[in-house]
Amino acid sequence: MSRHAAVVVEKNVVIHKAVIPVAGMGTRLLPLTKSQPKEMLPVVDKPAIQYVVEEAIDAGVQSVLMVTGRGKRAIEDYFDHSVELEHELEAHGKLDDLHAIQRISNLIQVYYVRQKLPRGLGDAILQARAYVDGDAFAVLLADDIIDGPTPCLVQMEEVAHRFPGMVVAVMQVPRQDTSSYGIIEGTVVAPGVWDVSRLVEKPDPAEAPSNLAIVGRYILVPGIFDAIEHTEPGRNGEVQLTDAIQAMLPKTKVYACEFKGIRYDIGNQMGLLKANIALALERPELAGELREFLSETLETLFD
Ligand code: G1P
Repeated sequence: MSRHAAVVVEKNVVIHKAVIPVAGMGTRLLPLTKSQPKEMLPVVDKPAIQYVVEEAIDAGVQSVLMVTGRGKRAIEDYFDHSVELEHELEAHGKLDDLHAIQRISNLIQVYYVRQKLPRGLGDAILQARAYVDGDAFAVLLADDIIDGPTPCLVQMEEVAHRFPGMVVAVMQVPRQDTSSYGIIEGTVVAPGVWDVSRLVEKPDPAEAPSNLAIVGRYILVPGIFDAIEHTEPGRNGEVQLTDAIQAMLPKTKVYACEFKGIRYDIGNQMGLLKANIALALERPELAGELREFLSETLETLFD
């Protein structure tokens, strides 16, 4: 018998563990990603993955497991100490730079596991079974940078405390885009919160049960691992996390949280560009000059 019926996110449970799948090839960003992971692409002055790790830290997460694959060593090096570089900076008295790079390696405990074959998001999450070891946990997809007044995962934790169960983050998308997302169906139980009755991975617009799309944030319970193991490959021939969550209904409650904030899909060129511009405009030391540059450029275009 599967164990998941008995396990729910209990009231006031804090999520201490997070899984970040980073095995994807990043083909939508070629040639940028030919020799570097998409997660390491710059967004203003940090690699994209750092925003996601910092969101997890802000939500109280104490360690993360990255599910990696071929060509992702740069991520491990980034979160590791760089002993030679630290010595060099210290020797030259560049203490600000030294502290800046030490801060990154001291951010959080990071563990790594490899997904040996690209079998889909569900299969990537399955690699986290031993790490998760019985606790409720978060999943953050590194393609999605979410900028908002409160970190998205914190908003989801608040939902989990009021409505014990698993939680997925959702946003409204245009109908014609449903085939790019997991889509939920549910009934509203509080402003911006749905009790989910169905999840479908990337439905055609005509078959989509709503326009509420899952974005890359989940609070899951360990029963998901049994569910994934019993999930047949679905959309694109891959084992889909959405299908495994659907299989746990109705025994395990699932809530959808329409987060407050803007989500940037940095896995495509436009999303990466928008994230860079929007997040730079929030930085006081960059905003003034960038604003000027943007308005000058727009003026020139319309001359
Ligand atoms: C994955 C999930 C999908 C979700 C999306 C959000 O799809 O399978 O349900 O809506 O992330 O970014 P992917 O974009 O990896 O194909």
